[in-house]
Amino acid sequence: MKIKLIHSTAATVAAWVMTLAFASASTLSTPQPQSALSLVKATAGGFSLSISNAGDQAWILQSSSNFSTWTEVESLQVYNGSFQRRYTNGLAGNLFYRAYYDAARQTNARTTANALVLPATSYNYAAPVLPASFSANPILAEDNMPANNLTTDAGATLGRALFYDKRLSTNQTVSCASCHQQAHGFADPRPVSVGFNGRLGSRNAMGLSNARWYQRRNFFWDERAATLEDQTLQPVQDPIEMGMMLAALTNRLASEPFYTNLFAKAFGSTAITTNRISAALAQFVRSIVSTASKYDTGVTNNFANFTASENLGRQIFFGLPGAPRATCAACHGTDNFVPTTGLNNNGLEFPYTDLGVGGVTGATNQNGLFKVPSLRNIELTAPYMHDGRFTNLEQVVDFYDSGVVANPNLSPPLLGRNGTPLRLNLTSDEKAALVAFLKTLTDPTLATDPKWSDPFNYGD
Ligand code: HEC
Ligand code: HEC
Repeated sequence: MKIKLIHSTAATVAAWVMTLAFASASTLSTPQPQSALSLVKATAGGFSLSISNAGDQAWILQSSSNFSTWTEVESLQVYNGSFQRRYTNGLAGNLFYRAYYDAARQTNARTTANALVLPATSYNYAAPVLPASFSANPILAEDNMPANNLTTDAGATLGRALFYDKRLSTNQTVSCASCHQQAHGFADPRPVSVGFNGRLGSRNAMGLSNARWYQRRNFFWDERAATLEDQTLQPVQDPIEMGMMLAALTNRLASEPFYTNLFAKAFGSTAITTNRISAALAQFVRSIVSTASKYDTGVTNNFANFTASENLGRQIFFGLPGAPRATCAACHGTDNFVPTTGLNNNGLEFPYTDLGVGGVTGATNQNGLFKVPSLRNIELTAPYMHDGRFTNLEQVVDFYDSGVVANPNLSPPLLGRNGTPLRLNLTSDEKAALVAFLKTLTDPTLATDPKWSDPFNYGD
């Protein structure tokens, strides 16, 4: 247990910040019975209370002028590990405040209404408005939403809570969103992800926008999950990522009234099962649909909204007549920028540090093959490639221009006429144009739309 008192030195706000941290794994299920308290003297500017408590307990805030008589101000319920509130109005000057834990006061109703901040009418997850090209082949055939797990508004709302809930990791410190961050296109800005106990994984977390459209239906860089429904429980149980036993997870969630409520709305009964957890998470991930980019507008107006450089980049990307012979669209094709059925090697290295698909199947002709992720919102999802080796798009373009490495499994679109790796020999203007084009795939709403944001109630 950690208690910190911090005095804010900001000249305009004479405020104290009370910070309580009550987070060690050993105290999660049996919190210390004695008061964990922190003392703060409120001045006219008020004070800020911030509690960090992975065990999600209730705390009592009291005030006193003399340290002997304490008056309760309110009781506070922590959800998802942290709580903060700024107390500014109606505070008598020179009172002392304390927040403490009382085992006898842990009976707050943990309802959907107070645990989560949800809109009165659900966000629309089930029926996103899609561009025409998404309702026709080839993209239509890429849709991997199965008939037995159609996305519903209630299912994706449950999935959203699960996606942001740190209780899915064993010590309640990591959620899916710790590694799939909305501000970064649901990817991880760190080259490799960091798990619940600080250990590093070996790959970069991919962005999740438009994961719904991938014809092979497999997930992960090495495609080891056959479907998204198979994929979603794997990080939960992964010994580095979240380290959670599934039986412990269903028990933990079943003890939360707000979950019983969300499961009932999504699936018609209160039962909390691992199948339902994976289905709801998959519904939420498939709901992360992004089709409001500059590129999407361009498709409707023959790219009149593009700058000259963006249009040059588009011609290079799609290998249109007159432009240098890049073959990006052979692998990153369609308006969703994924291949239809291919698995590919793009010549990052030889020998292979990571065997990719071959590491799963044991087939040597699949060594070094990786899933081709959609390039939608690629500007947001740095760093790039399965190992996060490139920090920006300029490096990616330099790589495809002159750095593709010969190897036995290099995919044909990256082979030149003489059988050696393709060299594009782009000018610096052409490289800049290709980067400018890739940035037209950014959807300005993805990173901020509240329908995909953290729904937990953190107090303010
Ligand atoms: C500790 C970091 C971490 C956490 C937590 C995490 N992920 Fe991931 N995620 C990754 C990494 C790294 C990859 C790529 C791993 C690989 O391919 O081997 C990945 C891949 C994925 C993919 C595959 C995307 C694709 O296009 O194939 C999906 C979907 C996904 N994660 C969803 C989730 C969900 C849902 C959760 C929560 C239950 C979650 N992740 C929790 C790091 C994380
Ligand atoms: C032969 C197929 C192929 C071609 C052609 C190709 N790529 Fe790729 N691309 C891949 C594969 C496979 C990956 C993932 C590789 C990995 O991480 O091991 C990838 C990854 C990327 C990434 C990083 C994605 C991420 O989420 O980290 C970017 C950006 C990219 N390619 C852009 C391009 C551009 C621009 C071109 C054209 C100059 C191009 N690609 C041509 C197959 C291809």
